[in-house]
Amino acid sequence: MGYFGNEHQVSFASRVFPKRGRTEAEVMAHLDEFGGKDVDDNHGHAIVYAMTLMNHLDAARISKVANMNFVKKNMLFKELMVGTERMSLEVKRMVIEILNYPDDARVRFTSGGSESLYCAINTARQWAKVERPRIAEPEIVVPYSIHAAMSKWCRYTGIKIKRVPLGPDFRADVKAIEKAVTANTIFIAGSAPCWPYGLYDNIEALSALAESRGIWMHVDACLGGFLAAFVERAGHKLPVWDFRNPGVRSISADLHKYGFACKPLSSITYRNKEFEKYHAFAPSDWPDGPYNTESMLGSTPAGPIASAWAVMQFLGEEGYVDLAKRCLQVKKRYIEGINAIEGMKCWESDLSPLVFEVPRGMDTFAVMGGLFDRQFYCLPCLQPPLIKIIVDPVTDEVVDGFVGALREVVDLVKKGSITIENLKPYM
Ligand SMILES: Cc1ncc(COP(=O)(O)O)c(C=O)c1O
Repeated sequence: MGYFGNEHQVSFASRVFPKRGRTEAEVMAHLDEFGGKDVDDNHGHAIVYAMTLMNHLDAARISKVANMNFVKKNMLFKELMVGTERMSLEVKRMVIEILNYPDDARVRFTSGGSESLYCAINTARQWAKVERPRIAEPEIVVPYSIHAAMSKWCRYTGIKIKRVPLGPDFRADVKAIEKAVTANTIFIAGSAPCWPYGLYDNIEALSALAESRGIWMHVDACLGGFLAAFVERAGHKLPVWDFRNPGVRSISADLHKYGFACKPLSSITYRNKEFEKYHAFAPSDWPDGPYNTESMLGSTPAGPIASAWAVMQFLGEEGYVDLAKRCLQVKKRYIEGINAIEGMKCWESDLSPLVFEVPRGMDTFAVMGGLFDRQFYCLPCLQPPLIKIIVDPVTDEVVDGFVGALREVVDLVKKGSITIENLKPYM
């Protein structure tokens, strides 16, 4: 099942599992063949975030090698891996230093943004069981634009989720969220920034609301956390989105996005130990005694943590700031190029992604089809129809290639030579 929901049908003419093993050369050649059919790094990392995101520069190579060197290690057995555990604690410390978190903040690794959001809601639920024991039917209240993973977790666990319509500026409508909060509400959240439009919710106002109602407040900075930290150091102003807001109890920030580490790796950080204590659960009602884990996973790969350590040490603050500055230049170049095409309009975005409208009356999905045909991949937003690109520290050629293809495609869609049919083979 792909991102767009279609099931890929493959028919197998013969057994795939061989009776006799193949040679290393054969195996590797076949793997290369699989990989060779994917979008290439250049196009993929520029436009489609989820595929080969930010797979660039020496940092990408070092991140990959570090991952490979630790690929067989399992963080489940930390006691046996004194050195790896030390490395992991250093990464946690660097997360605190980079994101300017309080000294006594507590970082936990997860397998990605989705797991960090699952943990945030779960931790709030465990906290509420102790601190709000009368709540039998817990609910969470979030802006409509918060990441879909929150709905997923609520479906898994039977927690009610209220997605509150956005304000006219496409940010959280804090007054409407306040109205939606009831005696059963355990948790509210905001994005910094949100995936659909790249906009920051008013975290300050949401934090004040959480404080006044005594409920959990989470900031989803999965996408932007590590980019925000460095664009701010480069002098770019952003809203106050973190623990500086006293009502914020947890923040998620993905190392495998703008941290440039290999997937899968994200962080969820609690303001203090007191809040962190509701995160972990070590079941012991089985023959083997307590089963302590970092977060939700059992076996936990050490490779991505090694890749985070390597890339953080290799780039240092100066390296990350340079990449963040490059992201801002790339964004400016995209905006200038796209807005120069008749009828196209980039939305204001606080950070990343960048979204834009196609000319009035034109089919957004036909435009996407034409771009895909030219190997320029992007993602859609449906409400309203928009095209989304990721702000990546790429070269001018990548940006200009995308803008050139877009100009050509828009013209062909106008003439009717490209339609939504062009998109169908990719779905
Ligand atoms: C704001 C935000 N939150 C959460 C997620 C989920 O992250 P992941 O894909 O690592 O599970 C994303 C992914 O793009 C995101 O942009």
